[in-house]
Amino acid sequence: MDALEAMRTIGTARSFRAEDVPDAVVYEAAEAARFAPQGGNRQPVRLVVVRDRAKKERLAELYLAHWRGYFEAARAGTQALGEYDSARRALTRANKFAENLAGHPLIIVVCARLDALHITDRELDRPAVVGGASIYPYVQNLCIALRVQGVATALTTLLVESEPEVKELLEIPAEYITAAHVVAGYPARGFPEKLTRRPVEETVFVDTFGHSIDTPGS
Ligand SMILES: Cc1cc2nc3c(=O)[nH]c(=O)nc-3n(C[C@H](O)[C@H](O)[C@H](O)COP(=O)(O)O)c2cc1C
Repeated sequence: MDALEAMRTIGTARSFRAEDVPDAVVYEAAEAARFAPQGGNRQPVRLVVVRDRAKKERLAELYLAHWRGYFEAARAGTQALGEYDSARRALTRANKFAENLAGHPLIIVVCARLDALHITDRELDRPAVVGGASIYPYVQNLCIALRVQGVATALTTLLVESEPEVKELLEIPAEYITAAHVVAGYPARGFPEKLTRRPVEETVFVDTFGHSIDTPGS
């Protein structure tokens, strides 16, 4: 599988086979993911791969405390807007995924060393985002490298709100933050063939914001 196909069919997996994902597969993915760019090449990312059932139960408990409120608000929103069945189905899948969080094979906790993030936008009058640019390319590389090996993932961030409890549970040192939780396993229903995203012409501009790139062959 080439990188383009992996990116187009990666999707967010919500259900997994019970089968474990061997350490060797995770190792292979991290071996490739670590070549992601990072500010000043400071290499801030660390991963804690959680397989232990009791620890996953605790992570699930923390996750659900955030998810349940989010779910009720999202459900009310889709009902009020009369949104499509597909949106309702996606929400139902996300809810089952959440309720069964401890049962998924792996929860990979993404940590990053705070003082190694190159945060160049912290003085701007808006929330800083640049620190994440030293973390998430690694995370997406990891998900792609798992996808190539047949492992599906769901990138989540709701649990970051419970960072103090997660750090205590996994004995994460004080100088590290948590940035995401990637749930991973062999997919119960294969990989998606078609993901819903905006077309390139709506999102890629040339020279001036709003001047769309040409569609090849047009
Ligand atoms: C920054 C970020 C945070 C996310 N957080 C969660 C989360 O906490 N829980 C969850 O179920 N999905 C989470 N997702 C997954 C999104 O819901 C998913 O990418 C989106 O619905 C598109 O799904 P698709 O890739 O299958 O098309 C997150 C995705 C991103 C990029």
